[in-house]
Amino acid sequence: MGGFTINVLECKSVSKWYGDAAVLKSVDFDLAQNEIHAIVGENGAGKSTLVKIISGLVPVDVGTIKFEGSDRTFSNIREIQNSGVALIHQEPRLFPDLSVLENVCVDYQVRDGKSKRFNWKKAEGETKELLAQLGCSFSVHSPVKALSVADQQMVDMVSALRKKLKLLIVDEPTASLTPSEVARLFETIRKLNASGVAIIFIGHRLEEVLQLSDRITVLKDGEVVAVKKTSETTEDELIRLMVGRNISASSTDSKTSSGQTSLKVSNLESPGYVADVSFEVNRGEILGIGGLVGAGRSELLETIFGLRKRSAGEVISTKHGSIKKVKRAISSGIALVPEDRAHNGLFLNRSINENLVITNLKLTSRGGKRNFGKEREIGQELIEKFRVKLSSATQLVRELSGGNQQKVSLAKWLKQEIEILLIDEPSRGVDVGSKSEIHQFLNNSAKDGMSIIMVSSDMRELIELSHRIIVMRNGRIAGELSGSEISEEAVLRLASGLATAGKGH
Ligand SMILES: Nc1ncnc2c1ncn2[C@@H]1O[C@H](COP(=O)(O)OP(=O)(O)OP(=O)(O)O)[C@@H](O)[C@H]1O
Ligand SMILES: [Mg+2]
Repeated sequence: MGGFTINVLECKSVSKWYGDAAVLKSVDFDLAQNEIHAIVGENGAGKSTLVKIISGLVPVDVGTIKFEGSDRTFSNIREIQNSGVALIHQEPRLFPDLSVLENVCVDYQVRDGKSKRFNWKKAEGETKELLAQLGCSFSVHSPVKALSVADQQMVDMVSALRKKLKLLIVDEPTASLTPSEVARLFETIRKLNASGVAIIFIGHRLEEVLQLSDRITVLKDGEVVAVKKTSETTEDELIRLMVGRNISASSTDSKTSSGQTSLKVSNLESPGYVADVSFEVNRGEILGIGGLVGAGRSELLETIFGLRKRSAGEVISTKHGSIKKVKRAISSGIALVPEDRAHNGLFLNRSINENLVITNLKLTSRGGKRNFGKEREIGQELIEKFRVKLSSATQLVRELSGGNQQKVSLAKWLKQEIEILLIDEPSRGVDVGSKSEIHQFLNNSAKDGMSIIMVSSDMRELIELSHRIIVMRNGRIAGELSGSEISEEAVLRLASGLATAGKGH
């Protein structure tokens, strides 16, 4: 190469419209063979659209895309699949009822040279080996729907790695991963990169972006506002570039709660997931739940809420008494905002407004009659409060960018009279600006007396927001941290079983 860096990919003046909305405006983007190039930007900036165009899944309206010197045009899906470019989507796209192995084989099948028969044994061997390399321990025969989002991402990754890869694009792979899983993923990405695979990485956690990438392109409202060498920029500069305003740091004021218990969980048990969990949460308190993926954190929230079968134990609201079923939980002022919002929290084929008001029918209807004016008003208020980027409130939720979908699924709860909020990964996939708004919302709600039980894999979020942290491991409470005991290291030690300190239960 004689010292030259050869561009594997060159996008020139790429533009894209959805209806009248210009989503990408004359974007230039290039990628060298040995490079890890990150793309950052607010929710709805156009990041996913750009990489979908690069991978061939979405047609470009104007502009050219050259890959290894020739135009990237395809006549069918097979050509796209065999072109050496793989895209790992923001939300894993898998067949939930099929097994891991079946999913991996859906778009890439090794056939015997002569007989053209599909060789399951060989595919199984390859899949197992790749999963082991990625540090995954689940069975290739388990149905994908039984896996956590993080593990589903790994399945997606394996499908990509089975092909001859030249370019790997990962769209926000770390949103629901814990630090150790992020480390494992980054190691895989670096190894691939070292073996000659170019990488495009999209992420909202800027510290990770800075740690991994060689160069960073900043998109804002569909335009490239900067291309920076990673070594020559900082987190603050990136935030300024992508948001265009200053972000108020999350409040560090006194983390005090009332001291009045609002919910008491005793000896809660859900077979296979939650074992003998007991704790209390106070009015006005944010109780963080840490732990590795698979530790049973989401399952704990679901069991408290009554969604998951309980084999022993009690959940008692100080005000409303014993809670067993979902209906009772809801009528007692408990709300659950789930992690996998695309599947559990939203009606994708309904409008933004309908999604926002469905939880607020009490406020927007009387005697079974909908008041459309009131619905619009409440919808608009929530849209503005959470800065949902959209073309109109009647747009279908499925057309929103990933982060904006997350905002809708959160926002729809927030006109409620909630006493106890169970929230799973509050800022997964959400940009820095909206994240600080969500944090402010949680802080203010706690100040107003709400009890919040929050599962988060984002270490900074967990530590900054929580008054107290319970760390789970294998379905049990491994320890509890409060006040000055709270640190990233302490959480990690408990989560990985290196320590059994803390108050314990
Ligand atoms: N199929 C579609 N129909 C209409 N509009 C769309 C469609 N897909 C994307 N958009 C719009 O294009 C814009 C850019 O979306 P995109 O998914 O590329 O954003 P993003 O930068 O990936 O955001 P996020 O960080 O939230 O994932 C958004 O305003 C979105 O609503
Ligand atoms: Mg996206």
